[in-house]
Amino acid sequence: MLRKLPVLLAVGALAIAGCGGDDDGDDTAAPASPPPAASPTEQADGGSTTVTMKDIAFAPAQVTVKVGDTVTWRNEDSAPHNVVAEQGADFKSDTFEKGGSYRFTARKAGTIDYVCTLHPGMEGEITVER
Ligand code: CO
Repeated sequence: MLRKLPVLLAVGALAIAGCGGDDDGDDTAAPASPPPAASPTEQADGGSTTVTMKDIAFAPAQVTVKVGDTVTWRNEDSAPHNVVAEQGADFKSDTFEKGGSYRFTARKAGTIDYVCTLHPGMEGEITVER
């Protein structure tokens, strides 16, 4: 009896480890619901950076990305905001409320200055590197 116990424990541990591995495989293979827009690893084209709009400000106000990367602005403020390039790019979002977002994919290296036209002083910068 006593001599068999360690063997049983070992078998049990193997079975548990095996189940864990199977679970991981299932998780990967299962058709997951679409990832959030900000998911940093799921962009086929390039990287992804999120800028939050909160307390009438962009956070972070300065980001550095690479050509091909996508910047997503997400409004988490009680106020509506927009995103309008002033220099270095040509994007202009509609005004969107809390929960809304806007995306821009950087296509050339340089510095982009942008603002929210609704709130003087609400401005940000994107440095796009090769
Ligand atoms: Co604003």
